[in-house]
Amino acid sequence: MTLPDTRPLSPAPSKCSLEMLTHHYGDVYEHSPWVAEAAWQHGITEAHDTPDGLAELMGLMLQQASSEQQISVIRAHPDLAGKAAMAGELTQDSTSEQAGAGLDQCSPDEFARFEYLNETYKEKFGFPFVIAVKGLDRHAILAAFEARLHNDIATERRTAIEQIIRIARFRLISRLAGS
Ligand code: GUN
Repeated sequence: MTLPDTRPLSPAPSKCSLEMLTHHYGDVYEHSPWVAEAAWQHGITEAHDTPDGLAELMGLMLQQASSEQQISVIRAHPDLAGKAAMAGELTQDSTSEQAGAGLDQCSPDEFARFEYLNETYKEKFGFPFVIAVKGLDRHAILAAFEARLHNDIATERRTAIEQIIRIARFRLISRLAGS
């Protein structure tokens, strides 16, 4: 179990206007600034001024969202080691997450494996495979990919949302000064 991260975010979310919050934290959920907006509408207090505090509130907003909104956030994620990654078209966060897991260094065989798994997964579930890649290398990611392909759709939807909430928390931690 990791300890909660209690270092303060800057700017402090509880001091932000709606515009400031979406400007600074709107991209924590991939192409989905409405999650930050929903957090602001809900009410942000000093308890949300740390990565864990804000991550928990934003995660709650995603958990409480409609199933269409949840699917749209899942679909906003790029394929892992996919064509957009190779073409340099990812968001800054996705680029560094994918590179951090060594996905930009796949062999041709590994790229082909990712391409096959990305397509097979999307065909089966109707949304892309999402996993918080921090701390994983491409071998562990491929193993998780192969295993999750056998799940049913309800399990994968739930897992994707949990993983997206984890990704958002890591993104908030990486915003801390000096991280
Ligand atoms: N996990 C962390 N970053 C990403 C990403 O860019 N795409 C997917 N599919 N999963 C991720």
